[in-house]
Amino acid sequence: MRDLNALLEIRGLSKRIPSARESSGERVLLHKIDAVIREPESIAIMGGSGQGKSTLLRILACLDSADEGDMYVRGASCSSMEPAKWRSQVCYVAQHAVMLPGSVEDNLRTVSRLHGTVYEQPLAERLMKQSGLDHIPMKGPAGDLSGGEKQRLALIRSLMLRPAVLLLDEVTASLDAISGRLVEDILLEWHREEGAALVWVTHHADQASRAASRIWTLKDGTLTDSELSCESGISDETAGSVRER
Ligand SMILES: Nc1ncnc2c1ncn2[C@@H]1O[C@H](COP(=O)(O)OP(=O)(O)O)[C@@H](O)[C@H]1O
Ligand SMILES: [Mg+2]
Repeated sequence: MRDLNALLEIRGLSKRIPSARESSGERVLLHKIDAVIREPESIAIMGGSGQGKSTLLRILACLDSADEGDMYVRGASCSSMEPAKWRSQVCYVAQHAVMLPGSVEDNLRTVSRLHGTVYEQPLAERLMKQSGLDHIPMKGPAGDLSGGEKQRLALIRSLMLRPAVLLLDEVTASLDAISGRLVEDILLEWHREEGAALVWVTHHADQASRAASRIWTLKDGTLTDSELSCESGISDETAGSVRER
């Protein structure tokens, strides 16, 4: 049954990919996935390598297509919406940041321009400072930044769209421990203050415990949804599927 008040609703999503074993066969990567984000929650996606976590996020961001199923943001179907409009509400942040041509500021402004939103300079400055990037010249080339700096700039670029749902694909994996925690804290503060839902792919049970209240575990094409209470921490089964990697 459709949940018209949900922030994000996923109904019957399936994805088949060419099988690595047989040249003509197919493998079902995602099998009729149903999931609902009813309110601005923070959700961790876990599961072994190759289980389809990134593919699911890319489908949710309308960057990859499903073979079956549909999804809805605040009741509006993805299949009846311009992809750019969908992506301004459901925004994917990749594990390896890609910079747009031009300066740091161009990167921040271009996204606002593409989506027809106002460029909020005070917000850009606040997020740069919070992310430890305030020493970086805004007019300097974005391509010269280090990998970790690019990752943080890409995240700021996405936050400035104020999406309803942020899809975070191992966004702290390439950062050192201190920068990783900094980014985690910024995202959690954003989640609390702006009411954005967060969906994090992570391989770290401790990060999931800190940052999420619910876990989606992907295994053999199916998604299992479980609550994560502060007291109980992460379940052995989920931790096991992470250790399997
Ligand atoms: N469009 C595609 N065509 C062929 N194979 C794909 C496609 N998308 C993903 N895959 C494969 O699907 C599997 C799952 O990929 P991925 O979603 O990146 O998993 P995870 O993020 O859980 O590690 C991988 O084996 C990947 O090579
Ligand atoms: Mg992945």
